[in-house]
Order: sequence, then C-alpha cells, then structure tokens
Amino acid sequence: MNKTIILKRRPVGKPSLEDFELQTGDIPEAGPNKVLLKTKYVSVDPYLRGRMRDEKSYIEPFSEGEPVESGIIAEVIESGNPNFKKGEFVNGMLKWQEYQVVNGTGLNKVDPEIAPLTVYLGVLGLTGITAYLGLEKIGKLKAGETLLVSAAAGAVGSVVGQIGKIKGCNVIGIAGSDEKIERIKSSFGFDHGINYQTSDNLRKEIKQKCPQGVDVYFDNVGGEILDAALLNMKKFGRIINCGAISLYNETEVPKGPRPEGILIKNSLLMQGFTVRDYIKEFGPAINQLSGWLKEDKLKYSETLVEGFENIPQAFLDLFEGKNKGKMIVSV
Ligand SMILES: NC(=O)c1ccc[n+]([C@@H]2O[C@H](COP(=O)([O-])OP(=O)(O)OC[C@H]3O[C@@H](n4cnc5c(N)ncnc54)[C@H](OP(=O)(O)O)[C@@H]3O)[C@@H](O)[C@H]2O)c1
Repeated sequence: MNKTIILKRRPVGKPSLEDFELQTGDIPEAGPNKVLLKTKYVSVDPYLRGRMRDEKSYIEPFSEGEPVESGIIAEVIESGNPNFKKGEFVNGMLKWQEYQVVNGTGLNKVDPEIAPLTVYLGVLGLTGITAYLGLEKIGKLKAGETLLVSAAAGAVGSVVGQIGKIKGCNVIGIAGSDEKIERIKSSFGFDHGINYQTSDNLRKEIKQKCPQGVDVYFDNVGGEILDAALLNMKKFGRIINCGAISLYNETEVPKGPRPEGILIKNSLLMQGFTVRDYIKEFGPAINQLSGWLKEDKLKYSETLVEGFENIPQAFLDLFEGKNKGKMIVSV
C-alpha cells in the first residue's frame, strides 16, 4: 500500500492537522526510463508555509488536493533509468509519498558511506548551505566582529553561529528556551545566548551581550526580534534577511517601527536573500561545510520524528520551537 499526504485546504493563520490529509493507494511501477523511489527521510521546513498560500513567490505555491513536497532522501527500489541503480540513495524535491515514480531530473545521489543520510537534509543540505552562503554573500564576516543570530538553536541558526566561531567572531544567539540557550553555548560554542521568550526588554539584553554593537545580524525570524536587533547595529553593519518565521502565520503583515532612519544613520546594509539565488555556488559551499565537518569544527543536531503519518505534525511543531537543530521525519 502507498501513502500520500496532500494539502487538503490552504491554512488560514496558524496551520493545523486538518489542513492535511493522508491518502492511500497502490504502489506504482517504475516503467521505462523512470525510477521507483521509497522515501526514507523527509525535511520539514518553515518556508513550506509560504507555499501553502496562493501567492506568487520565488517558488510555485502548492495546489489544494495535491501532495505537498519538500526535500527528501529516498532509496531507489526499481530503475528503468540507466543513471540510477537499485539500492542507491538520492536527494531531491519530492512529494510527501511513501513510494513515487520520477524521471530522475533534479535528483542528486547521496552516499551513506560519506555521511549519515539525514545530514544531506541539514548541515550538508539546504539549511547548511543557506547559513554558509548568507554569511559569505551578505554578511562578509571579519575576524573579531560581533555576529548575532536568531532561531539560533535551529537548523540554519546553529550552523551560522558555528561558522561565526570558525571565523573568529564573537557570537550571540537568540532562541526560545533556556535549554536551547545552554545547548548553543555548550554544543556549538556560542559566546552568549538570549532567551527571547523570557526577556523583558530584548533591545537592552542585546545591548548587554553586545556592548560594542552588532556587526552582522543573521535574521531568521523577523518581527520584534529584528526591531530589537536593528537598534543595536554598529555603523556599516550588515543584516541578512534570511527568514521571517514570526510572520509566516500572520493573516495581515503587522506594522512595526520604520527602519529607514536607523539604516541611514548607521550606513547599514539590509538584504534579503533566498539560497536558490546562488545555486551555482552550492558545490563549493558543500565542500567547505563537509571539510569543517571532517575536521570536527562543525557539529550538528537533529530532531528525528518517526513515521510517515507524522510529517504534518513535525511541520506544525517548527512553529512551536519543538525542534532542536534540523527537523526531519524518518519514514
Ligand atoms: N532564505 C532562504 O533561502 C532560507 C533557506 C532556509 C531557511 N530559511 C529561513 O530560515 C529560518 C530558519 O529555518 P530553519 O529551517 O533553520 O528552521 P529552524 O530554525 O530549525 O526551526 C524554526 C525555529 O524558529 C523558531 N520560531 C518559531 N516561531 C517563532 C517566532 N514566532 N518567533 C521567533 N522564533 C520562532 C523556533 O525556535 P525557538 O524555540 O528559538 O523559537 C523554531 O525551532 C526560517 O525563517 C526559514 O524560513 C530561509
């Protein structure tokens, strides 16, 4: 029996399990030039929320009644395509289906001998690459600078902080629990952490932890945390707008302080980016990240949820901060 998870209806505000539906059907056959894949690991990511809206963006929205898709590691079960052999593992943008037939376009082979398969969805996958290229292309970190990062215990944020330490920076992370703050310091070498859930005054707390100001703010969350960071930026600071998870479930964009005065006075650079802008540079980014992994300069953590049926719940849990590191579903 095959299993598929479709987007039953577009979420309004915070998504719920009722927005998804599990369907069953037959397992398809590969056929000429096609490959039959069995899903092993599914990446759930905050940006999928954006694809659930019927809005034009840098990536097509999902259709109601159709399977959701995300980064998936799958095993080749049957192959009519000479480029893929039974037993190989591949990484690609695939449907939330236990078994699926594809033509092979866009699949990359991954080798479990080189790294555990889940790593290709995290530190050697899109989130690791996002951390690396965001810092390289916009952050342009220099040794001795102060780097602030939000969602610091998450997949992107934990890699950002560690790269900051590799580059010789003073690194401060913002996250949503004391346990996460402890973890980013003890496991990932951050210098300081700030729990935004218990902070009475985030602007003051950032000032306390970054008395000379922030040179680079890697923003994964937007909203009020970005407002507080903006007030602590140093002259010629750089702000990397990587994500805005605090706004993804809003039905109307909340009005915040207007940043233009701060940007002008401090000659700040504030730049949005999507990692797909730099597809040509994924290869060198992965080489650098795997080099650091081998040298043990980079560590990673994962929250592994068991069971295909639990993919929607794992996705919802991202918005409650239930993940530590990369959120992955093991099928
Ligand atoms: N631009 C790109 O190309 C690109 C690529 C990948 C990811 N991203 C973005 O980068 C960000 C991080 O992605 P990720 O995959 O690494 O996810 P993640 O950080 O592993 O997981 C999301 C984390 O966001 C935090 N969070 C949830 N709701 C929040 C809120 N209202 N305010 C503040 N923090 C909140 C939670 O941690 P706490 O417990 O700390 O709240 C949660 O664990 C997301 O915004 C994502 O969309 C962008």
